[in-house]
Amino acid sequence: PRSVLVSGAAGGIGGALVDKLVASGSEVIGTDRHPAPPHWRGQHWLTADIGSKSGRDAIVARLNHPIGGLVFAAGILDTADWQTIDEDAAAELLAVNLTAPLFLTRALLPLLAGASIVIVGSIAGLRGSPATPLYAASKAGLRNLAASMALLLQPNDIRVNVVAPGLIDTPLTAGLNAELAQRRNISIAAIEAERAAPIPLGRAGTSQEVADACLYLLSRQSGYVTGSTLFATGGVLAGIT
Ligand code: NAI
Repeated sequence: PRSVLVSGAAGGIGGALVDKLVASGSEVIGTDRHPAPPHWRGQHWLTADIGSKSGRDAIVARLNHPIGGLVFAAGILDTADWQTIDEDAAAELLAVNLTAPLFLTRALLPLLAGASIVIVGSIAGLRGSPATPLYAASKAGLRNLAASMALLLQPNDIRVNVVAPGLIDTPLTAGLNAELAQRRNISIAAIEAERAAPIPLGRAGTSQEVADACLYLLSRQSGYVTGSTLFATGGVLAGIT
């Protein structure tokens, strides 16, 4: 698409997608709660908290031309285990991961006719997670939300899909691996090997590989695909019936 808004654009997956979009000639508006990273190559940057109404209002206020693609790649993990996480932190997680796509889409609707919306979910939405129960619930919810949005927005000629990655090498994963290694008093390399072992392709995915899946759903090549979830997991689901 000509003009694409990418949230989470300072992150691993969002950043990789921005680079690919710019390379393919799209105009990219990036937004993140962090300032633009040094390697930022897009056209417009907005620092804003997508989980808050004021943050989303700031994004909306800066946009006045049609948006052909809208990507939600901002996401956060549980900040504490379930016995200690407080309700404000839980509400923030749900606001950023789950409801921001609905509210920002609603606010931008007049600019979105004919657009493709891509929401980054996760394989974590398919199963329970004792370590990150709220994150897993938010990602499970996104698949359903995207399906509902696809139905709601079909009259506006807007498609809505989810890309659900498996284990991907990004700052988010590096942070989690470091925490797990510290908690279990083993090396980060050991954690990485343990997490890669059950993946049929034998490795974590790259941000670029997830970005490619997003690009497909943003493009006209996926014109008949809406309300779907595209899993990019290195084959983790292949043996599951
Ligand atoms: P990341 O941590 O590198 O990037 C996420 C970005 O979102 C960060 O730049 C962060 O500042 C931004 N962000 C967080 N809260 C925000 C807020 N309130 N407002 C605006 N921006 C905010 O993580 P990564 O790995 O690139 O993740 C991108 C998406 O992919 C997330 O939704 C994540 O849940 C999902 N994902 C990642 C996987 C992985 O293994 N890395 C696996 C499956 C899904």
